Amino acid sequence: MRKRRSAWGWLDERLGLSGIRYPVPKHANSLPYTLGGITLVSFLLLVVTGIYLGQFYDPGDIADAHGSVFYIDTEPFLGELMRSLHYWLAAAFVITLILHMVRAFATGSFKAPREFVWITGVLLFALGGAALFTGTVLKADQEAIEAIEHNNEVADLFGILGFWFSADFTDNVPALLRLYIAHVSIVPILIAMVLALHMMLIKKHGISPLPWGTAAEVQKRERTQKEVTFSSHLRHIGLWGLVVLGVGLILSGLFPTALGPQGVEGIEVTKPPWYFLWLYQPENWFGLDALWIFSAVLLVGLLLVPLFDRSPERDPRRRPFWIAFAAAVLVAWIVLTIVGATTEVVSHVEGK
Ligand code: HEM
Repeated sequence: MRKRRSAWGWLDERLGLSGIRYPVPKHANSLPYTLGGITLVSFLLLVVTGIYLGQFYDPGDIADAHGSVFYIDTEPFLGELMRSLHYWLAAAFVITLILHMVRAFATGSFKAPREFVWITGVLLFALGGAALFTGTVLKADQEAIEAIEHNNEVADLFGILGFWFSADFTDNVPALLRLYIAHVSIVPILIAMVLALHMMLIKKHGISPLPWGTAAEVQKRERTQKEVTFSSHLRHIGLWGLVVLGVGLILSGLFPTALGPQGVEGIEVTKPPWYFLWLYQPENWFGLDALWIFSAVLLVGLLLVPLFDRSPERDPRRRPFWIAFAAAVLVAWIVLTIVGATTEVVSHVEGK
């Protein structure tokens, strides 16, 4: 008589589920090495809450868009909570993304053979910025209208190269609708595609060893490090995901996302959200060009990290120059953000 099989065994035979029990280093379960996983969970939760918001959002024109956000806040079941949660999850996404990048830099995880893990990460960083920008304009309040005007003017600076991003690209679809399409389809699809590459490369190379000691000591440790199963790591990420969701819900309850009055074109009286504030003072100093020049320098600098810091050493104490350099960039970014937050509102868009 055939032995009765458990449901797990039946599924495993067909789906290969036990394949996720492969070994990963024990330190993969420490918080610094789980930050990428938390960013991933935040992204997935953003997709879920975004799908809900998309059922009620109307990107037709500025008035429709603003009206529909007000509608979300007042009418649908859990509408305001979902909108606030989407906002706070975006904050969790940015913060954990930056901390994950700082950790990968500090532990020399971008070094051979993981250069392309880093490079796909930088692409995700840029796409994360695109997701934030296209998301904040959707509420069509004053800050959003000013952001769209900045977008149009920066696109015009690039002439034919910026044409796709300019308001003149098409006459029959408003800029807000095109930004909405970018937010709910183009950018998330690109993120999913690059993320798949990021993950494939991590699977291929494994998590980098703990960095402490000389390069030779680290190499030796990589061969002898203690291991846990990847399924335990997934559980670990899942638990952190619940913490993010819980904190997000509490913050949404305590500080629901505000909605300013509908935006008016042709005036500039607001500042960007906190994650773009670092560009505000450079724009005061150098005009609109500062927006793309500072962003491009940051992105190209990040892409070139594996070319700059090429020694085999991973221990931050053995890479004093590059660690000090990166710390200076981080401090400059924080100082620019604080200056941006405290400086007076200035008008940058042409003719105002
Ligand atoms: C959507 C954004 C991102 C997601 C969801 C993500 C996800 C992950 C995950 C799950 C890991 C496995 C280990 C860990 O959690 O630390 C990882 C590793 C890694 N990520 Fe990301 N990441 C993102 C963005 C970035 C960025 C912006 C960078 C740097 C520019 C980066 C560079 C790396 C590197 C170098 C590793 C290998 C770490 C190691 O081997 O120790 N990632 N990423």
